[in-house]
Amino acid sequence: MAGIPFDQLEGSIWLDGKIIPWSEAKVHVLTHGLHYGSSVFEGQRAYGGEIFKLEEHTKRLHASAEVLNFTIPWSEEQINDACKQMLVENKLTDAYLRPVAWRGSEMMGISAQSNTIHLAIAAWEWPSYFSPEERLKGIRLDLAEYRRPDPATAPFKSKAAGLYMICTISKHAAEAKGYSDALMLDWQGRVAEATGANVFFVKDGALHTPIADCFLDGLTRRTVIALARARGIDVIERRILPEEMESFEECFLTGSAAEVTPVSEIGPYRFTPGEISKLMIEDYMTAVQPVKQELLVAS
Ligand SMILES: Cc1ncc(COP(=O)(O)O)c(C=O)c1O
Repeated sequence: MAGIPFDQLEGSIWLDGKIIPWSEAKVHVLTHGLHYGSSVFEGQRAYGGEIFKLEEHTKRLHASAEVLNFTIPWSEEQINDACKQMLVENKLTDAYLRPVAWRGSEMMGISAQSNTIHLAIAAWEWPSYFSPEERLKGIRLDLAEYRRPDPATAPFKSKAAGLYMICTISKHAAEAKGYSDALMLDWQGRVAEATGANVFFVKDGALHTPIADCFLDGLTRRTVIALARARGIDVIERRILPEEMESFEECFLTGSAAEVTPVSEIGPYRFTPGEISKLMIEDYMTAVQPVKQELLVAS
C-alpha cells in the first residue's frame, strides 16, 4: 500500500542552492529531464546522523552527469555540505537522501545545449530496521523479461534516470506475480543484477558475483567485496550463466537502499540464506555505523 505521497511529506528540500519548504520544490512540465530522461541521481543512507560513503556518492553524481554531457554547477564539496545540511534541517539521523540533477526548460527538443542544470536534494526518514533474523528469511525474485543493455547501446556507468525505465517495468511485472523484485540478465544472457541492487552468490564458501561491465558497479557491492576479502572469503568476479544458479547455495543483493538482503528464490532456482549471508549483513551493518569520536580519541 502506498503511504503519504512523496510530494506531500513535510520538511525542507535543497533546490538550486536554496532551502525551501517541501511543498514548493516543483519543476515545470516542460522540463527536459522529464521529457528526454536527461536526469541523474543518487541514493544514499544516513546512519546515526552520518551519510555513509557521501563523498563517493557525490563523485558518482558528478560523473553520471558528465556521461550525459552536462556539468552540475555545484562542486562536490558544496553538494556534500548541502546533503549534511538536509539532515540537520529535517532533524534526521537514520534517513535516505536523494540528490537529483536535471536539464531545465530553456530548450524543448533532443538538443538541449542552452538548458540550465538544476540540482535538488531531498532527505526523508528511513530507518534500517530489519533484524538479521528477519532478513535471513530471504526475498523472492522473478526473472526479468528485459535485459541490461549492451554498453555500446546505453551509458551504463551513469546512474541516469532513463536507464531505470526497464527496471520499473521489470519490477512491476515481478510484483504482479507476487515476487519482491526481478533479476535481470545482461545483453548476452548472463546474470547481471536486480532492478536496483547488485547480486552475489555463495558456493563452497566463496562469493561469486557478475563482472560489472554493463551495469552499475555499486558502492555497496564494492564495500561487501572488501569486507568479505578482509574476512578471508574468496570473491570471484566472473561471467555467470543463469543455469549455474542451480548450483549456488546462498544469494544476496547489495545496494545503498537494499543494504545486504538475502534471496531465497530466483525464478526456478532456490537458495538457503546461511552463514555467509549472515556474516555479510553483520559486517555491512557494522561498517555503516558512524565512527564514534570517543573511540577515535581512545585509540
Ligand atoms: C540498478 C542498480 N544497481 C546497483 C545499485 C547499487 O548501487 P549502490 O550500492 O551504489 O547503491 C543500485 C542502487 O543505486 C541500482 O539502482
